[in-house]
Amino acid sequence: MAKAPDSAHDLLSTSTVAPSPFLKWAGGKARLMAQFQPWMPEDFNHYFEPFVGGGAVYFTMRPPEATLTDVNPRLIECYTAIRDEPIALMDELAKHRSRHCKDHYYRCRTRMNAPRGLNAVSRAALMIYLNKTCFNGLYRENSRGEFNVPMGSYKSPNIFNPDHIFAVSAQLQSTNLRVASFEHVLESAEPGDFVYFDPPYVPLTETSSFTNYSKGGFDMSMQHKLARIFDELSRRGCYVMLSNSDTPAVRELFEGWRIIGIQASRAINSRASARGPVGEVLVRSW
Ligand SMILES: C[S@@+](CC[C@H](N)C(=O)[O-])C[C@H]1O[C@@H](n2cnc3c(N)ncnc32)[C@H](O)[C@@H]1O
Repeated sequence: MAKAPDSAHDLLSTSTVAPSPFLKWAGGKARLMAQFQPWMPEDFNHYFEPFVGGGAVYFTMRPPEATLTDVNPRLIECYTAIRDEPIALMDELAKHRSRHCKDHYYRCRTRMNAPRGLNAVSRAALMIYLNKTCFNGLYRENSRGEFNVPMGSYKSPNIFNPDHIFAVSAQLQSTNLRVASFEHVLESAEPGDFVYFDPPYVPLTETSSFTNYSKGGFDMSMQHKLARIFDELSRRGCYVMLSNSDTPAVRELFEGWRIIGIQASRAINSRASARGPVGEVLVRSW
């Protein structure tokens, strides 16, 4: 078992690696950061990321003060467990690592979908273990909100690295975490704050839609609502930035704002042929 650090400060000093996303998540922005960097505000107060997902932008920026939200309670539970109970979480992850096999994977999948009696750390450990061992690292739920991804075929999946968990925990110490829909950012964002939105994207075509990150989906009326919130935050004096697919609907929705083209390649797609470059946009309010 790893030695317990006494404080957030100890966590920072014991970490030898940089914090970075600890889950594989559809839409992850890690490979786009070099293209994003020139468009970020130079100076801002609080950082908000209302669709945090894997948090690639947050972990690259490492803001001293932040609020991360997402509608997926399992996801936020993972962030919270790493922030508040990294050692207990790693003890659980180590057990999963030692038991990893097909039977264990499917037992854990059933358990995560019926987690009665499990504490928050055990639920987070299940989520992280399944994410690291599932097919393509794809988080997907069926219409009943059950995680339903089959096991992947990794020979020795890298389930966790203690230095990395400590680095993430240290970064999260001054970060608020909350399960909430994106519009709640209006309750807290103030002039001079930076809000980055990375919503489920408007589909490029009717069939390429990947909007079922969680039950409920994210339809065009939600995209319109998001555009109104973008506008309101900007009028309030926040720096607002948003990613989306480069489609006529998105360009129309944000007409009048600064729209920057980005070349992305989608990592999570079961068909290799569909992983080529895809146009995305960054919309900026300033
Ligand atoms: C594109 S992903 C975010 C990717 C992330 N920024 C990254 O780099 O990995 C979209 C996220 O939005 C979340 N989401 C979907 N509907 C939402 C809503 N109404 N409010 C907040 N989050 C939502 C999903 O759970 C998912 O994690």
